[in-house]
Amino acid sequence: MLGKKTSYSEGTVNDLSRLKQRYEGKAKKVFATNDPELFIVAYKDDATAFNAQKKGTILNKGIVNNAVTAKIFAMLEAKGIPTHFIKKLNEREQLVRAVKIIPVEVIVRNFAAGSFAKRYGVDEGCPLEPTVVEWCYKSDVLSDPPMNDDTAIALGWATAAELSELRELSLKINSLLSEFFRVRSLRLIDFKLEFGRTASGDIVLADEISPDTCRLWDSRSGERLDKDRFRRDLGDVEAAYQEVMKRVLGEVNAGV
Ligand code: TMP
Ligand code: ASP
Repeated sequence: MLGKKTSYSEGTVNDLSRLKQRYEGKAKKVFATNDPELFIVAYKDDATAFNAQKKGTILNKGIVNNAVTAKIFAMLEAKGIPTHFIKKLNEREQLVRAVKIIPVEVIVRNFAAGSFAKRYGVDEGCPLEPTVVEWCYKSDVLSDPPMNDDTAIALGWATAAELSELRELSLKINSLLSEFFRVRSLRLIDFKLEFGRTASGDIVLADEISPDTCRLWDSRSGERLDKDRFRRDLGDVEAAYQEVMKRVLGEVNAGV
């Protein structure tokens, strides 16, 4: 999808007030464009945790998450993963293919952390083999409850074939992302993905991949460089996001 010809070019500054807002989430707004196949996503600095019980702002988070997502989605596309991403337009906005989000959030865990560590009473950082793939139902009002395949199929959120595709794509993405972060001295502990259906029914990766949606620990010090700094009041939240952006956009040391 990266090659789609559009009237939008990099550096485009949009008057978002003239576009029809399709959706406002906790961290992003989605706008319709004059092309029904295209949406513009605008990244905000708003941060929430624990299903919006905790609210705040992370200064320039929108800039970081837009840049990090753009770089990662372009990398994934280049490695054969279909995504909704077309191009970054400016500091806070990107152009994406219009999709309907599948209400199945995919959580991929390489090491125990967060709700998983709490649920099963295991230490954070404990390696998980095989990698654990979990589904949650995407619903703010219900606080994204965990679910299994039968639930997703019985309630019509995805077919069995789609769930297999989501699992396979997510594990491929995990391999690519783990290596991408490894050479940037970051350990990918876990992350959340969302997928969408295009008008023709194809499944593509959507939403974002950023320090909001991944747990990233510095490979040497183990320091947390992700949204857990905000969730757990660890301090230096903005600095952690900036550090991730610097490593994601910067030169890599493949020998790390
Ligand atoms: P968890 O351990 O809290 O279940 O989170 C697992 C991963 O999913 C972690 O990298 C953070 C990410 N995540 C989101 O992106 N959005 C969410 O709403 C939640 C709960 C987690
Ligand atoms: N998406 C969750 C919320 O809104 C936050 C999280 O990432 O933990 O509260």
